[in-house]
Amino acid sequence: MNLLHQIQQKFRAALADLVPDVEPYVAMIKSTQDAKHGDYQANCAMALAKALGKKPRDIAQELVNRLDCGDLLDKPEIAGPGFINLRLQPTWLAKAVRAIATDERLGVSLQIARTYVIDYSSPNVAKPLHVGHLRSTIIGDALTRLLRFLGHTVITDNHLGDWGTQFGILLYGYKNLLDKDAYAKDPVRELSRIYIEVRHRMGTDDEDDAKTPIADACRAETAKLHHGDLENNRLWQEFMPHCLAEIHDVYAKLGILTFDHEHGESFYNPLLPGVVDSLLAKNIAEPGEGGAIIIRFTKDNVALVRKRDGAFTYTTSDLATIQYRLEHFKPHALLYVVDFRQSQHFANLFEAGKRWGVAGVEMTHISFGSVLNRDGRPISTRKGDGTELIDLINKAIELGLQRYEESYVDRKAQGHDVPDLTTDVKRDIAETVGIGAIKYADLSQNRTSDYKFDYDKMLATEGNTATYMQYAYARNRSIFRKAELDPATLRADPPSVSLDTPFERALALQLLKLEESLLSAVAEYQPSAITAYLWDLAKTYSGFFQNCPVLKAESDALKQSRLLLCDLTARVLQKCLDLLGIKTVERM
Ligand code: ARG
Repeated sequence: MNLLHQIQQKFRAALADLVPDVEPYVAMIKSTQDAKHGDYQANCAMALAKALGKKPRDIAQELVNRLDCGDLLDKPEIAGPGFINLRLQPTWLAKAVRAIATDERLGVSLQIARTYVIDYSSPNVAKPLHVGHLRSTIIGDALTRLLRFLGHTVITDNHLGDWGTQFGILLYGYKNLLDKDAYAKDPVRELSRIYIEVRHRMGTDDEDDAKTPIADACRAETAKLHHGDLENNRLWQEFMPHCLAEIHDVYAKLGILTFDHEHGESFYNPLLPGVVDSLLAKNIAEPGEGGAIIIRFTKDNVALVRKRDGAFTYTTSDLATIQYRLEHFKPHALLYVVDFRQSQHFANLFEAGKRWGVAGVEMTHISFGSVLNRDGRPISTRKGDGTELIDLINKAIELGLQRYEESYVDRKAQGHDVPDLTTDVKRDIAETVGIGAIKYADLSQNRTSDYKFDYDKMLATEGNTATYMQYAYARNRSIFRKAELDPATLRADPPSVSLDTPFERALALQLLKLEESLLSAVAEYQPSAITAYLWDLAKTYSGFFQNCPVLKAESDALKQSRLLLCDLTARVLQKCLDLLGIKTVERM
């Protein structure tokens, strides 16, 4: 159910023979922030007046006269210079909300299906996951859930960095610093220990640029790996399952969907010479200095596709990846959820792709900002400042439990419907709260902004947090327990809905805006559109709940109607959280 689309449809008809292209004017209909201006407002009269050389208010009046409101809209009002304020008819709203209350999809229609390939998480393996991997993983996971819910085919691919310098580091470490017993006992721990140790001895932040003898030795190991050295390739085969196991443990803990594919950079290695040949044959690439091969975008912007020493690059590998994905998945869109620092890389990559013949396929870099520590500095990815991702997650879980237990005693004393605190219940709640908090804090940011990783803020029980939404859900569910009513029974034979108070009306309207909010989240690949919707929903629900008695409503009919609104609210809360990859519990 898309209210906006229905209203736009009416305007399309009204605008039809006034202008050749109605779409820009149709796009000027927006949902309002303030109920004073109606539920929606059309701002097109001003622009239209200009185009037609008439007075805005006259045009507004003409549009209103032409508009067939049907049973959807009350008679529109014209305000100010020519704003058209639109209000949905209460009977229409009541019927519509009743209809979505019994719909499994909550009124969200399936969209015309597209095929997306989404590349996210994509860590460089062989080093422990750090906080920098959090955003891509969480945002990509949420977008996948959202697109799938809307009916699209989504192929997820974890484009592991499994072929780079970091393996040279491991190979060098393995050959020179290995503690054999430790490796036999816990290979992952020992590999990450030697990784850290070698990095430390290399002595600079950037492993590609380090100029020390150890750095040279590590690069030599990488080169041997790439050139097919048997020993190094055998070791690579041996290390990979351990590296993957570590990453998969973190995904499992975070509740990330299983990837359809994990074709890392190594997977594309055999294709790279062919890519460069093809680029050369099509005059897209050209010889550069010292035997290198480059693609030139502007005078100063050049991408290497083959280095002087013959090594291929990240760009070559990503071009091979594009070719493979187009061939195997026939997608409408290729999405990359990757840090903003790689913007130039992706701009170049997409341009190179187009020159290479990629046409009619959307290619989007879904970029995001950094995670900052409480002082507002980017959290360093070097070891030693406690930023291993798994540690952050575990700490959030521990704090989640602590906060929960603190409030538990009070809430129990106040007679709230709280579960008995068995070990199982505790673990379930701690993980739901802790992990939900991390995800929500991330997803509720405009993704291009940096944000501070702050446990106090993310675990707050008031405000726009997962914890608040999870409590709102559980509290809502407790109404049904108190009423000893199974919500499914209510849905099976839904009561008619009454929206006589402004609180009920506002709640119904907000519930009916679900599809609109999901579509705007997709349009910008912006999960924060969903959290913004959730926050509005939570506020509207709280207004309703404080002003409209449910179990003590004046009549049974009103009680049933309000129960249906409660149930729908709970389901919408749960669905939105689910689309963000966040769990709920029935009681907390
Ligand atoms: N492994 C890369 C890194 O950690 C990210 C890969 C993103 N995906 C891609 N197709 N380039 O920086």
